[in-house]
Amino acid sequence: MEFSTRTIHAAQPSEPETGSLVPPIFQTSTYEQDAPGCHRGFDYSRTNNPTRARLEAVLADLEGVQHAAVFASGLAAEHAILQAYLKPGDEIVIGLDVYGGTYRILNRVFQAQGAVIRQVDVAERAALESALNSRTKLVWLESPTNPRLQVYDISAISAAAHAHRALVVVDNTFATPYFQQPFQLGADIVVHSVTKYLAGHSDLIQGAALAKDVAVFEPIKFLQNATGGVPSPFDCWLTLRGLKTLELRMQRHAENAAAIAEALATHPVVKRVYFPGLPSHPNHDVARRQMSGFGGMVSFELDGTVDNVVEFVSSRRFFALGESLGGVKSLLCHPARMTHASIPPEERAKIGLSDTLIRLSPGCEHRKDLVADLVAGLEVAQRAREAQVVRA
Ligand SMILES: Cc1ncc(COP(=O)(O)O)c(C=O)c1O
Repeated sequence: MEFSTRTIHAAQPSEPETGSLVPPIFQTSTYEQDAPGCHRGFDYSRTNNPTRARLEAVLADLEGVQHAAVFASGLAAEHAILQAYLKPGDEIVIGLDVYGGTYRILNRVFQAQGAVIRQVDVAERAALESALNSRTKLVWLESPTNPRLQVYDISAISAAAHAHRALVVVDNTFATPYFQQPFQLGADIVVHSVTKYLAGHSDLIQGAALAKDVAVFEPIKFLQNATGGVPSPFDCWLTLRGLKTLELRMQRHAENAAAIAEALATHPVVKRVYFPGLPSHPNHDVARRQMSGFGGMVSFELDGTVDNVVEFVSSRRFFALGESLGGVKSLLCHPARMTHASIPPEERAKIGLSDTLIRLSPGCEHRKDLVADLVAGLEVAQRAREAQVVRA
């Protein structure tokens, strides 16, 4: 079955009792048992729920594995993975460019419990090798990264991690299984903020953790029930609905992103564009090799002041200023003050996250409208810059 067929048919038969084409929402906390301890696979909805189980089966199918656990947020999924595999004294190696919440949970929660966080440029073989040792339990990659859209060679990094018996976790939120299949590249665990492209409509918060091997998955599945960070059946149903158009949406997001990247790349007030589809992107070749498309996100640095950035992001017509990404309605954000504000300024400077970086999440609107909206904002920034030059 091809990908789009699987998003619609995998683990999604019509409901057997009534023939309902759309699966019901099992909005229940508990299940009547035939005798004590004798139930039909469901005993309590924190432990398992038919709507959630269906979503887990679909996500597992799309990522090409057997095991998925869905959580109440991407960070709840991250927490379960980290709790399962990072004990006091254990080490984790993580790339420089990561979502601010991932940085925060590692540095404010797990480091406080005694874990050692080694944040290095994992694309540099020597830096990666010197960070790996016998205490390394996890190597954690976002690819493409949030917000600078760096692309890491998952196969090469997995080989290096496995030589040290470390598990490789790939945050596949930005690429989605439509554009990237991390398990085929060597990942042991895949994590998602389902909130983003998978659900796709900016109307829920959800996460997922998936694993190739049952032995790797079991501690995560145990924590899903034991710590209880599960999503509601309704939210699972909404994600099942959103997933059915994942391929169509991702194609449109990617087309829009490519058109925007091209328009920004030649604009005089744009200092730098981050989009792996541009041949000038330093990881363009890796992206071509390991992804089937370049994804839907674009970031860029404005050649101006932070005030110019604030003006730009606050006055777009079709890009709403907001956290999050991956919905049908376009969003933009100023990572230094929003999604990545939990990373201290000096750390942001160290990892190359500029205060004038703007992150765009083009939605499914028409690309002409989106490009025109951005170009109009850039012209305002250009006039402001020219006025500054004249005053000086
Ligand atoms: C790449 C990435 N991973 C994980 C998360 C966390 O997911 P959630 O917000 O669903 O908890 C985010 C949120 O923005 C993200 O961008």
